Amino acid sequence: MKAIFYSTMSYERPYIIREQERLNNELKLLDCRLTLETASLAKGYDVVSVFVNDDGSAPVLRELHRHGVRMLSLRSAGFNHIDLDEAEKLGMIVARVPAYSPHAVAEHTVGLMLALNRKFHRAYQRVREQNFSLDGLMGFDMNGKTVGVVGTGKIGELVCKILAGFGCKVIALDPIENKHCLDLGVQYVPARVLFERSDIISLHCPLTPETRHFISREALSAMKTGVMIINTSRGAVIDTKALIDALKSSKVGSVGLDVYEEETNLFFKDLSDQVVHDDVFVRLMTFPHVLITAHQGFLTEEAISEIARVTLDNISRFGNGLELGLNQVRAAVQISAPRGSVT
Ligand code: NAI
Repeated sequence: MKAIFYSTMSYERPYIIREQERLNNELKLLDCRLTLETASLAKGYDVVSVFVNDDGSAPVLRELHRHGVRMLSLRSAGFNHIDLDEAEKLGMIVARVPAYSPHAVAEHTVGLMLALNRKFHRAYQRVREQNFSLDGLMGFDMNGKTVGVVGTGKIGELVCKILAGFGCKVIALDPIENKHCLDLGVQYVPARVLFERSDIISLHCPLTPETRHFISREALSAMKTGVMIINTSRGAVIDTKALIDALKSSKVGSVGLDVYEEETNLFFKDLSDQVVHDDVFVRLMTFPHVLITAHQGFLTEEAISEIARVTLDNISRFGNGLELGLNQVRAAVQISAPRGSVT
């Protein structure tokens, strides 16, 4: 198989190359994103491999198909960026890595909570400037606080487990109740109740038409004053402009984000010597109680190694005419479908 990989990062290339050594594929690793403009680079390749901010829209897929591409191999669990109906029409197989390390994202999520609560990001700067004052660094005990978890799939379940260990009361929202969460004592509640009761709200649902802007102006107004919101799922689950207004009025106390609605043109790049033109994002960064990481929840050795292994396996199986099983993503699968079949 000849495969071309878009959006490869320096941190993942050694893992891809290591996996490649045991398989018989011919790979080309590119830095650039897949877009309509870069699709022609795939000419002569059977497989295109993409990451979360590559463009998998219908025009791009048609262009890839025109150049002879027969398979799209996602190095992610999420597939909301791929037009599956178009891929099916074109007869293009789409495969993904359904689970690599839910621990990586769950642990990052709780890391954001702790950092915001105990203000590590501010304390770090202060101490480096020899400012040892504690003013403004007051946190709260996690023990006894109510945390609302939206989406108790693979990642949400682990978040519930860690928080239960802290002595938090965990309430959750998910159309499908997770037995392991119920066993932990997690109580499933309607959205309104979750908004009203939670001291911290953590988002772990997929991005679907139903969950787009789930954290809306109305949802924010139903929340406790001073609530902490953490999003490591997909940016558009939050209406960012409404969130900024809620931060300005102090309705929302603190926010931890690993994802952002318009992250495609920002994240995974070094823009340190450039002007950022996204005023919404820039405003978000001005709040002292907002902590943003650039979509790094998955970034552990275990997760990256597993992504490389499964991606190369998917490509080899396709090349050898073997079934891809649950790793194949089909248009018929609704992205609001139950755990295991989404993101
Ligand atoms: P999963 O598929 O195991 O779980 C998702 C859960 O959300 C399911 O239980 C599903 O029933 C539930 N759900 C669906 N619609 C819902 C709704 N309207 N309201 C409440 N719950 C709903 O997915 P997984 O692996 O746990 O991933 C969760 C999220 O984390 C996804 O959005 C994924 O894109 C994101 N993610 C983020 C990463 C990062 O680096 N920040 C890395 C990997 C995943």
